Amino acid sequence: MVPTQLLVALVSVVASVAAQSIPAGWSLHHRADPTALIPLKFSLAQSNLENLEAFLLDIADPRSPNYGQHWSPARVKETFRPSADTLNTVHGWLTQEAGIHADKIKLNPDGVILQVNATIAEAESLLQAEYYVYSDDEDGSARVGCHGGYTLPQHVSKHVDFVWPTVHFGGPRRSLSARGEAVSSSSPSRFGRESGASTIPIENLADFATSGCDISATLLCLGELYNFDFTPVSGDVNSVAVAEFGANVYRQSDLNLFFDSFRPDQVNNTPTLISVEGGNPNVSGSLGEASLDIELVMGLLGSGQNLSLYQVAQPKASLDPTDELLAALDGSYCAVSPVGSEGITDCGDKPRTNVISISYHFNPDIIDPSISPVVQRQCTEIGKIVLTGITIIASSGDGGVAYSQSHECLLANGSLVANNPNGSFVAQLPASCSYITAVGATSVAPGASTDQVEQSTTDFPSGGGFSNNFPRPQWQDAAVQNYLDNFAPDYAPSVFNRSGRAYPDVSANGWPLVIAEGGAFVHSGGTSASAPIFAAVIAAVNDARIAAGKSTVGFINPALYSDAFASAFNDVVVGSNPGCGTQGFPAAPGWDPVSGLGTPNFVKLRDAFLALP
Ligand SMILES: *[C@@H]1O[C@H](CO)[C@@H](O)[C@H](O)[C@H]1NC(C)=O
Ligand SMILES: *[C@@H]1O[C@H](CO)[C@@H](O)[C@H](O)[C@H]1NC(C)=O
Ligand SMILES: *[C@@H]1O[C@H](CO)[C@@H](O)[C@H](O)[C@H]1NC(C)=O
Ligand SMILES: *[C@@H]1O[C@H](CO)[C@@H](O)[C@H](O)[C@H]1NC(C)=O
Ligand SMILES: *[C@@H]1O[C@H](CO)[C@@H](O)[C@H](O)[C@H]1NC(C)=O
Ligand SMILES: *[C@@H]1O[C@H](CO)[C@@H](O)[C@H](O)[C@H]1NC(C)=O
Repeated sequence: MVPTQLLVALVSVVASVAAQSIPAGWSLHHRADPTALIPLKFSLAQSNLENLEAFLLDIADPRSPNYGQHWSPARVKETFRPSADTLNTVHGWLTQEAGIHADKIKLNPDGVILQVNATIAEAESLLQAEYYVYSDDEDGSARVGCHGGYTLPQHVSKHVDFVWPTVHFGGPRRSLSARGEAVSSSSPSRFGRESGASTIPIENLADFATSGCDISATLLCLGELYNFDFTPVSGDVNSVAVAEFGANVYRQSDLNLFFDSFRPDQVNNTPTLISVEGGNPNVSGSLGEASLDIELVMGLLGSGQNLSLYQVAQPKASLDPTDELLAALDGSYCAVSPVGSEGITDCGDKPRTNVISISYHFNPDIIDPSISPVVQRQCTEIGKIVLTGITIIASSGDGGVAYSQSHECLLANGSLVANNPNGSFVAQLPASCSYITAVGATSVAPGASTDQVEQSTTDFPSGGGFSNNFPRPQWQDAAVQNYLDNFAPDYAPSVFNRSGRAYPDVSANGWPLVIAEGGAFVHSGGTSASAPIFAAVIAAVNDARIAAGKSTVGFINPALYSDAFASAFNDVVVGSNPGCGTQGFPAAPGWDPVSGLGTPNFVKLRDAFLALP
């Protein structure tokens, strides 16, 4: 017995976390001052995470006796709090083996993080690492990090998700625009204004009434396509929000211009601001994304339902906007990311709405030690939030099988390179997190009527595919396997990850929507439009369930893929999502990685959800 244990101990004393290279968007500056103090944060492994999917299925699988019995935030916090064993192991290592005085170690109130007041020299010895100062290529801000990775003893490493600051920079800055603001997953100017005819002058507005929905997708078109004729009855208690990041803002004058033509009862109405990190929609910025999201949701739902707006500022380019929103919704997550003078200050005190629509992409879904632990934790947190009865909906991206509009694909050497036919597909985040409902984009086919099922967009390739970071969840197993067995192109195994979470889940119109923006009507869209359209449909389903004395729908994916919901979607079978020098995936009968299950039929979807407890 003893020799065996000894042998195990000898061969596996340490677990190293490698750093591949200098994270994109940062430059290595100089060796950090060994006497400088850093708050070293050990993000402790949470308990019961292996049961997260089972907990969700228990309340979200239509066959479960506990369907709809969402958890309270307090129950979530208690269930996933790191265990005493985890805390004692990490604390014991620090004090007894590493010689850190207990006075220098603090546990945050939620029990998720151990913070050690250490000097750089102490941190280097603790982690067998070398600390450098890195500078952000965009805003010049500095951050310390370990060049070449860090090491924890084996018995400690399984109790620690990651140590911050070390190698986890939270993804390349290339997902941000030059001004440091998050770029929306659809840029209306890219898809809307490239051809001269696409910006529609106001004086031609009357023509919309007679042109087809393939030429101009108005609110009226969406109503016909999705069987959506809705008057809220639970607006006093129901809630729905869109999230806008950085300097993506709206103008009331644009909303009024739009409402005046298409939704007169909403003229002068404005979304209820939920400011995150001081986010303010009155600043100057780009109008495309927020105008699209707000006009579509307020336009579809009407004045009986208020819309909330999470306006998430990005005070520093080095802050991950996803982290800011998650921290604002759940304080326990706040501890995971830089807090206080280094960054996030809104910790769990912001209202949670029943539905949250996100039309942005952030980190690319690649396996990389500087990104993976961060996106894993983000997705876990999203799972914890949806467990409380919230639906989070995200656009699937506008780059087909490549990484959104940058069209980047992953090379074998780990580089992301645009449009390289030797690259493998890159999924979109947050859309490819299993706990999100991802929405792809469709259009009315040329000359077709709204009675006909749409096709996947051709003006841009709708995002879809398979995750590298997240395994395929049970609830989509049959649908995805059917696609792989019967319709998937015969790409080499390295091109996409057949065992990963597949997305999108559903789709909705993404082109050419009629929107008021910057004082004029334009054609706009992208999966950026599809997500808020689907969010409005789910908000309307919640309205009906609340009126029937039932819970909100919360995590909808297991229900959407179940047999009882098969007729709730219009199956999109035409189109594909090219990228990375390939034709991407073709749409097909049933679920496919271009259009998901299809576009919603609101009345059937509502009735299917009303039939559940
Ligand atoms: C950290 O330790 C230094 C001395 O090593 C001390 O001056 C400082 O106040 C401590 N900071 C915190 C936040 O405990
Ligand atoms: C919407 O918000 C406004 C302003 O806060 C409030 O007066 C109104 O009652 C709200 N509407 C509903 C349906 O709750
Ligand atoms: C934005 O401007 C409007 C109109 O001037 C004002 O009522 C509102 O308070 C401002 N909002 C913020 C967050 O500053
Ligand atoms: C990976 O390969 C591509 C294409 O050959 C090249 O442009 C890139 O610099 C390489 N990246 C690394 C990190 O070697
Ligand atoms: C793709 O790989 C082939 C074979 O290795 C190579 O000849 C070609 O230059 C590569 N293409 C690009 C765009 O890197
Ligand atoms: C494919 O997905 C699985 C499940 O998430 C993951 O374990 C594996 O590392 C992925 N493979 C690649 C090559 O990304």
